[in-house]
Amino acid sequence: MPLWHVDEKGAVPMEQITQPKKRMLSGIKPSGDLTLGSYLGAIRNWKGREDSFDCFYFMADLHAITVRQDPAALRRRTIEQLAQYIACGLDPEKNTLFIQSHVHQHAELGWVLDCYTMFGELSRMTQFKDKSAKNADNINGGLFTYPSLMAADILLYQPDYVPVGEDQKQHVELCHAVARRFNGIYGEVFKLPEPFVPKVGARIMSLTNPSAKMSKSEAEDTGRVLLMDSPEVIMRQFKRAVTDSDTLVHFDREKKPGVSNLMTIYAACTEKSHEQIEQEFAGQGYGAFKTAVGEAVVETLRPIREEALRLMKDKAYLESVYQTGAQKASYVAEKTLRKVYKKVGFVAR
Ligand code: TRP
Repeated sequence: MPLWHVDEKGAVPMEQITQPKKRMLSGIKPSGDLTLGSYLGAIRNWKGREDSFDCFYFMADLHAITVRQDPAALRRRTIEQLAQYIACGLDPEKNTLFIQSHVHQHAELGWVLDCYTMFGELSRMTQFKDKSAKNADNINGGLFTYPSLMAADILLYQPDYVPVGEDQKQHVELCHAVARRFNGIYGEVFKLPEPFVPKVGARIMSLTNPSAKMSKSEAEDTGRVLLMDSPEVIMRQFKRAVTDSDTLVHFDREKKPGVSNLMTIYAACTEKSHEQIEQEFAGQGYGAFKTAVGEAVVETLRPIREEALRLMKDKAYLESVYQTGAQKASYVAEKTLRKVYKKVGFVAR
C-alpha cells in the first residue's frame, strides 16, 4: 500500500515525490536558424518542464559538421541558439544547457558504439539516404555513422526519456538496438530510454508551400519565419503567404492548406479557437487576415527576440552558462564512459 501525499492539487503516492526526477535529454543541430515552426511546435513546450524533469539540452555541433558548414556561421548559430533557448524560457539554473563538442565523452563513446553498430543498420537509415541524395558530393563517413554518435549522446546520460520529432524516431530505435546489443554482451550498462511523446505541438508548414514543413535548413524565401526576423521581415513574409482563390477564412487542411496553416499559427499565438477566428474574419477577405496573423506573430516573438539580442551582447554570461553546462554534463557522461571503457577491456589510466 503506497503512502499518500495530499496537498491542494490532490493525492500523489509518496514514492513519486521521494523518487528523484526522471531525466530527459535532447539535442538540436545548430545547422540553421530556429524558425517559428520550431518554436510553436517544440521549444514553447520546454518551458516549465524542468519542474517535473531533470532536463539536458545540447547544441549538436558535432552532428552539424556531417554537412559542410561555414565556420563563422556555425560558431554564431551555436551561441545564438543558446541565447534563444534562454530567451524562450529555459532557465539555465534549472536545465543543463551545453555544447556537444565541449563534452569530449560524446566523441569517445561515439567511436566505441561505432564498433557495435552494423553496416547494414546504418545503411537502412532514412535520414542517411535522404542526406546522401541531397549532398551527393559529400557523402562522408560521419554522415553514415551519425546514428552511433547520436546513440552515444543519449546513452551517456542514462535518460528516461528522449523527446524527438517524428523524423528522429528511427535513430532512437537504432540507439535501443545498439544498447541492447552492448548490454547483451557486457551486462546492464545502458538504460534504454522510453520515447517521449510530447503534448502535441502545432505542426507549422511553409508559408509559400504549405504541403512542406517549415524548415530551418531550407533556403531563404521558402516561406519560413525565423525567431530572429525583424517585424518588417515577418510582416512581409505573411503578406506573401499563399492562400487560395476563395476568400473564406475556414479551417480545412486538405482543401485549404495555406489558410489552415495561417489559422494554426494565429491560434497558437492568440489562443483563439478556429471558430472564433472564422467569426473574427468573416467577410473580410485574406488581406486583413494575413496582416492580423503577421502582427500576432510579431508580438509573440518580440519579447524572445529582444531578450535573445540582449543576451547575445552579454558574451560573458553566455560563456558562463555553457561552461557550467559542460561541467555538469561531463560529470554525468564520464561515469558512463568509465564503465564502458572498463567493460570493453581498456586499461584504466
Ligand atoms: N539528430 C537530431 C536532429 O537532427 C539531433 C540530435 C543529435 C539529437 N543528438 C541527439 C536529438 C540526441 C536527441 C538526442 O534533430
